[in-house]
Amino acid sequence: MAFGRRGRKTMISIIELSDLLLFLAIIWIMSTENTLLKNVKTVPTILLSNALSMPIIGLGTWRLNRNATDVIYDAIDVGYRHFDCAHIYRNEPEIGKAFKDLLQKHVIKREDIFVTSKLWNTFHEPSLVRNACETTLKNLCIEYLDNYLIHWPMAYKEGDELYPKDENNKFIASPVDYVDTWKAMEPLVDEGLCRTLGLSNFNVQQIERILKVARIPPSNLQIECHPYLNQTNLMEFCRSHNMVVTAYSPLGSPTSPYKKPGKYPILQNPKVLEISDKYKKTPAQVLIRYQIDRGNVVIPRSANKDHMLENFSLWDFSLKADDIQALNELCFGGRYMIMADAQGHPHHPFADEFS
Ligand SMILES: NC(=O)c1ccc[n+]([C@@H]2O[C@H](COP(=O)([O-])OP(=O)(O)OC[C@H]3O[C@@H](n4cnc5c(N)ncnc54)[C@H](OP(=O)(O)O)[C@@H]3O)[C@@H](O)[C@H]2O)c1
Repeated sequence: MAFGRRGRKTMISIIELSDLLLFLAIIWIMSTENTLLKNVKTVPTILLSNALSMPIIGLGTWRLNRNATDVIYDAIDVGYRHFDCAHIYRNEPEIGKAFKDLLQKHVIKREDIFVTSKLWNTFHEPSLVRNACETTLKNLCIEYLDNYLIHWPMAYKEGDELYPKDENNKFIASPVDYVDTWKAMEPLVDEGLCRTLGLSNFNVQQIERILKVARIPPSNLQIECHPYLNQTNLMEFCRSHNMVVTAYSPLGSPTSPYKKPGKYPILQNPKVLEISDKYKKTPAQVLIRYQIDRGNVVIPRSANKDHMLENFSLWDFSLKADDIQALNELCFGGRYMIMADAQGHPHHPFADEFS
């Protein structure tokens, strides 16, 4: 087919235009991917005692106030790769739906994400442990957990009821000792169902009992931690036993329905506001950095994508020692997660506030 001069010129400009559009599309895709990759690569990790790397910030998933599947899509988009889950949060199937979809579409690879879950109190009886772990894996649509914790040291009566209570509204205890639960968790690592094990809400004496018998020692401890409950003593104890501390409720859990200690919500404490003004960062960023700069892993929860991004944008500043000290001085043992209903249980961990 022959083209005239004008026709050839039009063809060339159409080709040039389509090349230009293709070029722009490639640049756009690369820049989108780069933003994501940049986030992923710049999130520092901490080495656990078994040489597993744990990203120092993760997304909390308790009491998410919108569909957990959508929350995970947003979080992955922002760059989160560490997720703190638990059977008792009753949203593992929704979270798993997002993991399955994102893995199938190759948006993420399994090895790119770090997933923690927790064994609930009604499954402490050793013969129930494996099935509880498998249920969580099935719900989360993954083949192994990176990290599996005993959620609380107290065992509750086994059965379908996750919060078994008596006529006085008190939890019904089970006599199972958490040391025996631990021994039933260790084979999960041997069999590849989880990569590392840890504890949550255990005090020093309880951790020591585990350390005495553990063939696979706990590599991490998850505890409530913020300036009103700075946990300095427990952090030092953990460090001396090669355990990483993960700080839960780092923002003071402002919307959970429990009585909060202190005159101000932590996010509105005048000292926190003063430090956030000084660094030109938000109070949430200061409180999250407070954990990271003390060597802790931190798992703020948000269902709001803007907050997720804010809480994840932390890499251009760190708190000076005197500001960390000023935040430490706000501590008065102000714990909100006291598990009051389970007080009186022989393994309730908070008899000594600073244990
Ligand atoms: N092991 C345990 O026993 C245990 C106990 C409690 C918690 N945890 C874990 O720790 C995670 C975090 O603790 P948490 O959920 O109690 O509370 P948190 O992270 O201290 O606070 C979460 C609340 O802060 C709000 N928030 C988040 N970012 C914010 C920002 N930049 N500015 C203002 N408000 C912001 C969130 O609202 P929006 O959604 O609107 O952002 C949400 O209401 C939990 O989700 C769970 O995974 C573990």
